[in-house]
Amino acid sequence: MSDPPVHVNRRMRPFGTSIFAEVSAAAAAHGAINLGQGFPDDDGPEPVRRAAADAVVAGPNQYAPLAGLPVLRRAVAAWMRRTQAVDVDADREVTVVAGATGGMADAMLGLLEPGDGVILIEPWYDAYPAAVAMAGGRCRFATPVAPDYRIDRTVLEAAVDDRCRVLVVNSPHNPTGRVFDEAEWDAIESFVVEHDLVLVSDEVYEALTYDAPHRSPLRRPRLRDRTIVVSSIGKSFSLTGWKIGWTVASPGLTEAVRASHQFTIFSVATPLQIGAATALGLPDEAFEDLRRDHRERRDLLVEGLDAAGLHPIVPEGTYFVLADVGRLGITDDRAFCDRLLREVGVAAIPTSAFHHDGRPGPVRFAFCKRREVLAEAIDRLGRPGTVAGLLP
Ligand SMILES: Cc1ncc(COP(=O)(O)O)c(C=O)c1O
Repeated sequence: MSDPPVHVNRRMRPFGTSIFAEVSAAAAAHGAINLGQGFPDDDGPEPVRRAAADAVVAGPNQYAPLAGLPVLRRAVAAWMRRTQAVDVDADREVTVVAGATGGMADAMLGLLEPGDGVILIEPWYDAYPAAVAMAGGRCRFATPVAPDYRIDRTVLEAAVDDRCRVLVVNSPHNPTGRVFDEAEWDAIESFVVEHDLVLVSDEVYEALTYDAPHRSPLRRPRLRDRTIVVSSIGKSFSLTGWKIGWTVASPGLTEAVRASHQFTIFSVATPLQIGAATALGLPDEAFEDLRRDHRERRDLLVEGLDAAGLHPIVPEGTYFVLADVGRLGITDDRAFCDRLLREVGVAAIPTSAFHHDGRPGPVRFAFCKRREVLAEAIDRLGRPGTVAGLLP
């Protein structure tokens, strides 16, 4: 029989199936504990889910305005004031989008001309290169070095060319767990200003920092009008299935986001926008509890990986810990993850999947799972001889 025709266009063909779908399917097939994909086992705060449920019953259930419900846009503005001390115009600078991923795609589709360069920092979240490709842009890659993954001017300058329009950053960072410090933000600021770039700042893990708090580039006067922040309710509130996100940007950049959003998505689930507004209005203690809970799970997994001899890199934020398996002589992180899944029963993600050239790197474990799930994974990893049995 002849092969079926390929309908996927040339731009999207290189992306295939995401590593998360691949690993999650393999984990299910082999009964492995899935520390691969970054979604929590527990649903977010009950009052938030209740507010959304009440809105489904009582309404509104029809299209929200393109920019999002005013109540959510005002809640985002209040959140930016509370967490970042930044004043934001809820009408002209906030747009409700279909998760941070939707916001990223809207930004690329609204900003880029064909062939424009977009600098991505490796390892990246895999939706970024796909969004650039969909928008007809061209990816350029800045590659900080493991295990510190620090950003500086040298790393950034190596990626830029004179057709670059955009730099994408993500802090707290998936998968490294890095939270940029002020010296790194200084480097980003001078780079963006000198090369006249737009900065797209993915802040989905903004509430999940364990040492120093997240500081948005919107706080910086020279970046205030050059930055599009994308964020969402998903990670901070353990509600990844809602896909309610937002962008915050100066009116000119907001126009670019809305220009594409009106024809891609137009409007995201109205009652969930009401729930999201409730989430952003929760008292500070709710965020402290969330952070404390995640920090405890982080420590549990870090200790377990350390005891198993897997060289964890302690993350400053996010849901993820990297294990620096290169120190064990592992040169193929994908094959290592495959054996870990099949032979030990624990699924993790190889970071080579987040590099344009597939270079091997540490492997990523998610700790946003129930404690008994983490304990079982740690038990499997820590059994005598387990890790030694996987070494080359
Ligand atoms: C860095 C980063 N950005 C965005 C997302 C997705 O956000 P959302 O579900 O709001 O689209 C993820 C999810 O893993 C992520 O890790």
